[in-house]
Amino acid sequence: MKVDVLTLFPPMFAGPLDESIIKRARDAGLLDLRIHDLRDYTHDRHRTVDDRPFGGGPGMVLKPEPIFEAVEKLANERTRVILMSPQGRKFDQAIARELARQSELLLVCGSYEGFDERIRESLAHDEISIGDYVLTNGALPAMVVIDAVTRLLPGALGDDASSADESFSQGLLEYPQYTRPAEFRRMKVPDMLLSGNHAEIEKWRREQARVRTKNKRPDLPGDPDDSDKVASK
Ligand SMILES: C[S@@+](CC[C@H](N)C(=O)[O-])C[C@H]1O[C@@H](n2cnc3c(N)ncnc32)[C@H](O)[C@@H]1O
Repeated sequence: MKVDVLTLFPPMFAGPLDESIIKRARDAGLLDLRIHDLRDYTHDRHRTVDDRPFGGGPGMVLKPEPIFEAVEKLANERTRVILMSPQGRKFDQAIARELARQSELLLVCGSYEGFDERIRESLAHDEISIGDYVLTNGALPAMVVIDAVTRLLPGALGDDASSADESFSQGLLEYPQYTRPAEFRRMKVPDMLLSGNHAEIEKWRREQARVRTKNKRPDLPGDPDDSDKVASK
C-alpha cells in the first residue's frame, strides 16, 4: 500500500513510524510511506499556507491553493484523499479495515483553524477524526491511522491471525491473556488455560470476551453468534 501524507510538520513523523511493526512493514515493502511538506507547494517568499478567515474571527485558515496543487500532483485515480479533521467520521477498527483494502491513500493534515471549506467540498473523498477532542494539527491523527491500517496489511504481523480475534475485530473485546509464570505473587493463571484442551480453551475465551465486552463496552455489537441466535428466534 502507498500512503502519502501532506503536512506542515514532516519532522513529527520521524520516530513513531520508524519502529517495530511499522518499520518492518516498510522494510518489507508492504507500506510505501512518503511525507510531503505542504510549504513545498507555495510560490511566495514566505511560503505562505494560511490566511485570515473571511468574516473575521480568531486564528488562521489553510489556503486552498497549496493543498489543491499538492493533491493534484500527488494523487491519481486510485488515490483516496482523506482530510484529518475533528469533524470527520470517527475512526475505528472497521474504518481501519476499509482503508487497508485501498491501494493508495493521501492523508491531508490540517493546522491552525483548519481547512478552507472548498478543500473539504471538492478535493477530499473522506474526512476522518480520531476522536471527539481537538489536537493542534493532523500529524498525530495521521500517524494513528497509518499505524492501525498498516498492522492489518497481510504479512505485517508475524501471524495474521493476531488481528483476527483481537479487540473490535468481531464486535467483542479480546479475552484475557496470560503468560509465564503460571503463578505470580499468589495470582494464578486460570486452570482452564493450563488444561491443554484447545476446544474448551476456545469456548472459555469466547465467554470471557462476551462478559468483558458486556461489562466494559456495552455499546459494542457483541458476539455475532448471539445476534444470529436472536435473529433466528
Ligand atoms: C486545531 S484543529 C482545527 C479544528 C477546527 N477549528 C474545528 O473546530 O473543526 C487543526 C487540525 O488538527 C487536526 N485535528 C485536530 N483534532 C483532530 C481529530 N480529533 N481528528 C483528526 N484530526 C484532528 C485537523 O487536521 C485540523 O484541521
